[in-house]
Amino acid sequence: MSICVSRIFSRSKRAVVGLFLVICIPAALWSQAAGPVEIQIRADQTIAPVSPELYGLMTEEINHSYDGGLYAELIRNRNFKEDPNQPLYWDLVQEGGGTGSMTLDSSQPLNQAIPASLKLTITAAGKKGAVGVANEGFWGIPAKADTSYSATIYAKVSPDFAGPLTLAIVGENPATPVATATIPEIASAWQRYEVTLTTGASAVAGPNRFVISASHPGTIWLGMVSLFPPTYANRANGNRQDIMQLLADMKPAFLRFPGGNYLEGNTAQTRFDWKETIGDISGRPGHMDDAWKYWSSDGMGLLEFLEWCEDLHMQPVLAVYAGYSLHGDHFAPGPDLQPYVNDALDEIEYVTGDAGTRWGAERAKDGHPAPFALKYVEIGNEDEFDPHVGDYEGRFAQFFDAIRAKYPELKLIATAPVTTRAADLIDEHYYRRSADEMAAHANDYDTRRRTAQKVFVGEWATRVGGPTPNMDAGLADAAWLTGLERNSDLVVMVSYAPLFVNVNDGAFQWQPDLIGYDANSSYGSPTYYVQKMFAVNHGDTIIPISAHNVPSKEWQPFSPDRGSRGAPPIRQPMVEQIPMMFFDATRDSKTGTIYVKIVNRDERPEPLHFAIDGASSIEPGGQMIVLSAANPDDTNSISDPTKIVPVTSSVDGLSGDFTITVPAYSVTILEIRSQ
Ligand code: AHR
Repeated sequence: MSICVSRIFSRSKRAVVGLFLVICIPAALWSQAAGPVEIQIRADQTIAPVSPELYGLMTEEINHSYDGGLYAELIRNRNFKEDPNQPLYWDLVQEGGGTGSMTLDSSQPLNQAIPASLKLTITAAGKKGAVGVANEGFWGIPAKADTSYSATIYAKVSPDFAGPLTLAIVGENPATPVATATIPEIASAWQRYEVTLTTGASAVAGPNRFVISASHPGTIWLGMVSLFPPTYANRANGNRQDIMQLLADMKPAFLRFPGGNYLEGNTAQTRFDWKETIGDISGRPGHMDDAWKYWSSDGMGLLEFLEWCEDLHMQPVLAVYAGYSLHGDHFAPGPDLQPYVNDALDEIEYVTGDAGTRWGAERAKDGHPAPFALKYVEIGNEDEFDPHVGDYEGRFAQFFDAIRAKYPELKLIATAPVTTRAADLIDEHYYRRSADEMAAHANDYDTRRRTAQKVFVGEWATRVGGPTPNMDAGLADAAWLTGLERNSDLVVMVSYAPLFVNVNDGAFQWQPDLIGYDANSSYGSPTYYVQKMFAVNHGDTIIPISAHNVPSKEWQPFSPDRGSRGAPPIRQPMVEQIPMMFFDATRDSKTGTIYVKIVNRDERPEPLHFAIDGASSIEPGGQMIVLSAANPDDTNSISDPTKIVPVTSSVDGLSGDFTITVPAYSVTILEIRSQ
């Protein structure tokens, strides 16, 4: 006996093509159906176009995503502001009989943004001595082979100090630094100095420190210290090459920034206040990221987000602060909210205005004369959590009216349902507590009514594995993505969250996360490879696929998901039968190639019998890309970064009627070349 779960849409475009997806599952508890899974594909029918902007990225400062992550700065607490009472992450170095002291000095500030400098007093240098300050970086300073690191310091000295300053990357043995550079003389007024430190032929894994030292008595004040490795696309103040390459390989269509909770802050004071994040880095005050409980240098500021988009050819999805912060700061619609609406208008002008506008001129001054293309603006973040009932409706309306009046071409995204204005998209978030729960929801959008309002699934994840998802999560995430791709006439954009995690102990607040790293290297999780496979391999039209005889298991659902800030899970009394396999099919209308996505969460390999109708010819030779694991608990990690990666192979014997077998615990993309 089998149960057929039909997805038929009488009021939608799908009714024209009839059955969209049928999954027929045996009614046993966890059952292996007799015979292969039967797959039927209609190559000549089109359900809807695949959204060209479907796969993108979501980002915010969480888990040391930027400081200690993508943003390539290597010095932690570079402007000494993280704690007004002590120079966190800085140590005094006294070697070879040298003596001295180190303290914060608020009487000698570099500028208004950096109200205290780091004062190094050298009392005795000793014969072969050196006294200095050492920064430990973000869990170490990397030292790659044959690499030039660019150091910038703001410094001044007392009149009695003479002699050079030495800058060095130092490993375990201070006597043999990994790389050094010298500044021959320092003036008695604040000045900027820039030098290059070049490493030798071997990488030094560390833990390394960055040391600034001298061998003469006197006083040195440091106003700011910065150290950068070579960056992606050689951007000044830019991003780590390895992590950017992982992202580039995903071919993301958009970047949603700057959050997330990071946008809102716990208070209005600690929101992402974009005007404080632009201009030279020595003038950026930084702020406490109290949503995730660590300091943000704001080196990754508004312009850097936009340049990140530019480097990876992504659409910016600009989220603007909408007058609501996590711990209750809230500005009611009306005059109290207006300053924030004005701030958003200024922000859009900074992004899109030409150099003749007030904020476009500011952007040009910051080094980017050309305006950025902008299509999407998101108003707030997860505003369904605003306890003031009905309040978002009014806040959204005030932002909507002001932005629409000045920028009628922009598409505006709501973060909670609104009724008085027609939001172009609504941002929906889904964090699922188990792989079964995510898989059980994989077909949710099949039955969603189509309206003019499109859906942006701006945050989603199966919360299994850590710090990055394991294969169990990866399989459920792939199942979920089949449902999103199949419904991409409605769900036009999707982004997993969070994107990044620094995997060091104490560095992260949330798991799992898509991409992991430490100071030296980075890796993609199984879900990273799932998204990359999906994003890179799809056609431009959704075509009908049905599956019969699909293995299934019993599952007891949770109460409806309330997102990441929701109530603890409660099991529902009823039991559901959920499929163990998931499918979708798209076709490239120019080349005729059919991309079939097959997710097998089952512990057994599954034979699949395909019947393809409506193709005038099918080439026998095709391609299979397979991501699989021996065990669902298997994962990638910093020490085993490529345990689970996709493997591409050729397949033969394809036609309108063929059988292939997919491995246990696998995600497969089958490319069938057809006309
Ligand atoms: O992705 C982590 C957090 O989850 C985001 O900051 C927030 O939008 C959501 O609640």
